[in-house]
Amino acid sequence: MPLNRRIVIYPGSFDPVTNGHLDIVQRACRLFDHVVVAISHNPLKSPLFSLEERRELLELALKPLIRRKKVSVDVFDGLLVQYARRRGAGAIVRGLRAVSDFEYEFQMALMNRHQTPEVETVFLMPDEKYTYLSSTLLKEIVRMGGEIGRFIPPALIPKIRQKLTAHRFHNNA
Ligand code: PNS
Repeated sequence: MPLNRRIVIYPGSFDPVTNGHLDIVQRACRLFDHVVVAISHNPLKSPLFSLEERRELLELALKPLIRRKKVSVDVFDGLLVQYARRRGAGAIVRGLRAVSDFEYEFQMALMNRHQTPEVETVFLMPDEKYTYLSSTLLKEIVRMGGEIGRFIPPALIPKIRQKLTAHRFHNNA
């Protein structure tokens, strides 16, 4: 399938999605016709949220863009570059928050380019207010009863709190 320069894949664990991820999706929407938010199925990372839960949270957060067909949410298994080829995407987008992200991202981008040179990686910077935000810190703050209203869309807060409370209860039982 010929690669479409107007379709971009935004891959990640999204465990769970944060406003930082959503900021990157919005920026990518301005540059590309269609953004495929692709949740990686990587059991080695032992995500807290199941694939279906992560998909549900993303779909809820991205509802208006999905309705306008600017964005779709998918799950992928195996190599990202093979998935990008299957989807006919010409590019992969990743967010860069700080210099600390750079080494890992650079290594991945070059490894992906080595495997599939025709798929380009594009880095986008989120709004400065999200440079310190990560899914890992978000989960820690919820677990310890902190305030997360600025970090995820309001509609997602009850679902995330519920999951983390259930998880804590299960682990303490
Ligand atoms: O949100 P994350 O956890 O930083 O996303 C990492 C992700 C999913 C982009 C990366 O682990 C990935 O591409 N996984 C798919 C398997 C793959 O292609 N691995 C080789 C990368 S060079």
